[in-house]
Amino acid sequence: MGSKERYHWLAQDVKVSGVDDMVLLSKINEDTITENLKKRYMDDYIFTYIGPVLISVNPFKQLPYFTDREVDLYQGAAQYENPPHVYALADDVYRNMMIDCENQCVIISGESGAGKTVAAKYIMSYVSKVSGGGDKVQHVKDIILQSNPLLEAFGNAKTVRNNNSSRFGKYFEIQFGRGGAPDGGKISNFLLEKSRVVSQNPGERNFHIYYQLLEGASGEQRENLGVTIPDYYNYLNQSGTFTVEDVNDKKEFSDTLGAMSVVGLSMEDRDSVIQLVAGILHLGNINFREENNFAVVESADFLAFPSFLLGIPQDALCSKLTSRIMDSKWGGKSESISVTLNTEQACFTRDALAKALYSRLFDFLVDCVNRAIQKDREDFNIGVLDIYGFEIFQEEYVQEGIKWTPIEYFNNKVVCDLIESKLNPPGIMSVLDDVCATMHAKGDGADQTLLQKLQGQVGSHQHFSSWNKGFVVHHYAGKVSYDVSGFCERNRDVLFNDIIELMQGSEFPFIRALFPENLEADKRGRPTTAGSKIKKQANTLVQTLMRCTPHYVRCIKPNETKRPRDWEESRVRHQVEYLGLRENIRVRRAGYAYRRLFSKFLQRYAVLTKETWPTWQGDERQGVLHLLKSVNMDQDEFQLGKTKVFVKAPESVRRHAATTQLFLLEEMRERKYNGYARLIQKAWRKHVAVRKYVKMREEASDILLNKKERRQNSLNRNFVGDYIGTDVHPEIRQFVGRRERIDFADVVIKFDRRFRMVKRDLILTPKFLYLIGREKVKQGPDKGQIQEVLKRKVELANIQSVSLSALQDDIFIVHQQDYDSVLQSVFKTEFLSLLVKRHHEKTQSNLPLKFNNLLEFKVKKGGWGPFSSSGSRQIQFQLGQGDEAVLKPSGKVLRVSIGPGLPKSSRPTRRDNRKSFYRENRAAPTAQNDSGPHNGGVGTRRGSSSRGASLRQQSNMEQPSLPRLQNRHRRNSGHAQHVDMGFMNVPDQGAAGLQRRRSKELKPVPGAGRPKPAPKSKPRSPQCRALYAYDAQDTDELSFNMDDVIEILTEGLSFRSVGLVVWTPSRTRGNVPRKLRGEDLDVEVIAN
Ligand SMILES: Nc1ncnc2c1ncn2[C@@H]1O[C@H](COP(=O)(O)OP(=O)(O)OP(=O)(O)O)[C@@H](O)[C@H]1O
Ligand SMILES: [Mg+2]
Repeated sequence: MGSKERYHWLAQDVKVSGVDDMVLLSKINEDTITENLKKRYMDDYIFTYIGPVLISVNPFKQLPYFTDREVDLYQGAAQYENPPHVYALADDVYRNMMIDCENQCVIISGESGAGKTVAAKYIMSYVSKVSGGGDKVQHVKDIILQSNPLLEAFGNAKTVRNNNSSRFGKYFEIQFGRGGAPDGGKISNFLLEKSRVVSQNPGERNFHIYYQLLEGASGEQRENLGVTIPDYYNYLNQSGTFTVEDVNDKKEFSDTLGAMSVVGLSMEDRDSVIQLVAGILHLGNINFREENNFAVVESADFLAFPSFLLGIPQDALCSKLTSRIMDSKWGGKSESISVTLNTEQACFTRDALAKALYSRLFDFLVDCVNRAIQKDREDFNIGVLDIYGFEIFQEEYVQEGIKWTPIEYFNNKVVCDLIESKLNPPGIMSVLDDVCATMHAKGDGADQTLLQKLQGQVGSHQHFSSWNKGFVVHHYAGKVSYDVSGFCERNRDVLFNDIIELMQGSEFPFIRALFPENLEADKRGRPTTAGSKIKKQANTLVQTLMRCTPHYVRCIKPNETKRPRDWEESRVRHQVEYLGLRENIRVRRAGYAYRRLFSKFLQRYAVLTKETWPTWQGDERQGVLHLLKSVNMDQDEFQLGKTKVFVKAPESVRRHAATTQLFLLEEMRERKYNGYARLIQKAWRKHVAVRKYVKMREEASDILLNKKERRQNSLNRNFVGDYIGTDVHPEIRQFVGRRERIDFADVVIKFDRRFRMVKRDLILTPKFLYLIGREKVKQGPDKGQIQEVLKRKVELANIQSVSLSALQDDIFIVHQQDYDSVLQSVFKTEFLSLLVKRHHEKTQSNLPLKFNNLLEFKVKKGGWGPFSSSGSRQIQFQLGQGDEAVLKPSGKVLRVSIGPGLPKSSRPTRRDNRKSFYRENRAAPTAQNDSGPHNGGVGTRRGSSSRGASLRQQSNMEQPSLPRLQNRHRRNSGHAQHVDMGFMNVPDQGAAGLQRRRSKELKPVPGAGRPKPAPKSKPRSPQCRALYAYDAQDTDELSFNMDDVIEILTEGLSFRSVGLVVWTPSRTRGNVPRKLRGEDLDVEVIAN
């Protein structure tokens, strides 16, 4: 395994392979381009850019970078942030549509087997993943994605070049509603290769569906449809190839059936489709022999199945295949005569019927998909064209009057004219149509006439030559020879009327519906030819594409072996040539990468200046200039055309300058939007959190309602859950299961059998309640040190009840089978509500809560002296003075007295008492500077200061991370220190403040008064200062304020990054390194 394979492809510091944008190649020719692609391909980087054009080399193996992780990574990222990827292109397409409110299209080109269809699928699945939407949208998405296996089953086949070759062209539009969720779509299909239905070359197969049916048919289907081995059928056995490596036709059959149902075909229609597929197969088995120069059906037995499956009488089928009704004109009269066919003509008619049935079936399936996803109103769409390429460039500069150096490239127009010019001289298609129009009923001799006429009309064209059987066209990609035999007949593409009539008489409505022609009306006028239909389709497609912003993917096929890592240099070079990559790069370099209509430009960057927001009032051109000025765009970086602004290609300078003008524009725009988006998010989260907390508070409070007096400050406080910050305390977490969630954690006081108070960490998880204490190690190398010890672990189901007094004190007793725990916590209400909930989840029964001013608890067996025996103790509560409980132990009774609290009927108010959130949140980092004295003891280290910090943070809704603030490294921020932090002080420290005071007084001091070890002198690390504030966007990032000084532990150049990524000690999470990200360039190193 090569070293690179040990890394994730996006890991930091991975070797960079070649250049990922070929605009950056120092020398541009076919060799350097091919070499660069090879280098990358061998390192498993199949994607490379030429500016915004994506080159994709077929890897012939599954690469690991198409997971949800990459979907996340590319979402909303700028092109230069991540390595080239089809997801980056797809993201750009989607975002452009949303931002500019313009239709987009992706044009995917490349030869057979180069990966066009796979790329198209990645694009569609990416768009489907990143666009939102509810159930209805999900339904549309399902259909869009499921239309692939369906249309592939019927429209793809194994060829020698590609085991899953698309034998039809497809333009797939996904339509979006205003909110950006896909709510409709449309498929246009072109040029299904009908000839494959009746014949295939060696090594190839018919369309997949046939083999799927033969493998996957049920017993009943086999019988009813006459399904047997492929060798039996003429339409399948000519090529000697029946299977495809790594393809399980049986499974694919069930997928195809599943897809049919997703796109909404009824059970009945599905059966009809399958029956027709079988019918076509059987049609192919009707053979003819010559009798007196006429064709007769060889064996009438073979008529039975097709006529049964197509729902037509056997004799009608027989006669229509061997004779034809012709209209002929004699003088002014027209007359119908029946002409008998020879075997060749009979075979032709049979095959024409088979092809017509199949192609109409295919169109029916496409229609089904379209019907299922069509919508009445179109907003915007993204189209993906999986067909050979169209491209428009250069002319735009001329139209707009832009000065630039034109690049020479092969202009395919000369070939296009040769093929489709109408006049002067007429092109090949026109000549063909003319020959067809004057052709007699039988096409004999027409093909030769065609060849002669072509010689006469275009024989001297430099891209045309002829050979003995036909002609040759010199296309851009190479020479192609065309055999003229059958050209005219095929171009006529008319199904003889009597065949249409035959099918219109089928007993099956499904088949009748495939032949909707009105034969009487169609008789008039020149029949349309295949050539003219194609031309019409192509023109419509071009018109559609012209209305979209185009994006290009060029696929390259590296070999003909279909094996991974196999690089056939000459083949790739050839593709590089005819795909025009060299010209692409040169155009990008010489030209202007970015062009936009003035109005669109103004709209996109309106947010950047006051004058342009929300709309620029005045001349558009001036507005554009104003915006360009606002970012100090250099005069020679852009040009203004008649309607568009052109900005120079930023790629060529991107390695040298961190932010080019164009990126600057984009970046500033993003920043503004991000800022607003964050504000909205914060407000929303706040709103949700407030509601959640209010509900929690009320639920908790209801437990004590009318049972117990309440403390002044406990009613309206918010619940934090983890008051210890167990995330950063592995010494505590060690006792809890790895996947166990901690619902509640707090430092509490535990009373022992003599009513002595000790501190415990109380942890509640969905399964257990833990009490963790600290003890001095008595032996071993750690002797004398204080260590965490699990004192008690109780399954929630084993807790019998909890009892409390009716006064405002914080004491509660957890009763269990063997002995009880007497605890004291100011957060008892929160704890109890969670305990009750979890207990119920475990046992489906309600945990009994008892309220009484005389409580009893069981103590553990063992010990010595007067308290040795097991037995019980009592706590007597009585009304006294003040908010602080006064404890008086006497023998086996503890007397607790406390003043009156809030009435038992108190409930929290619905008021949002968290107004200070933003201020608190922002000022929080310096909070620990004044968080009270630290006495260095183990308990107090975490105990009191943590409580102090957490109490002050209770009002922060992003609560889970808050207690960790205590662990932040001290900040050196001069800036922050000048800010008046007075408002941070808790006005009334309430019970928590009391507890903090008390825990300091608690004896013995945990840590046994050990002197605090002197801090080790640390080697000084380099530091940097933040030039801007940055809000962390992800869990591994670091937030910082302007002027913050950050220590750098290690540093490294990020993969493809434009700046330095610095790894710092985390100020919020122990020693986990964090990235300074997003604003990578916004720090300057100030000390070393
Ligand atoms: N990104 C890819 N990752 C893995 N395999 C791929 C990738 N792209 C293509 N392939 C492999 O190459 C085969 C051919 O790709 P695909 O069908 O997309 O070619 P195509 O350009 O659509 O060809 P055709 O014009 O014949 O339809 C796929 O079936 C798959 O095995
Ligand atoms: Mg394909």
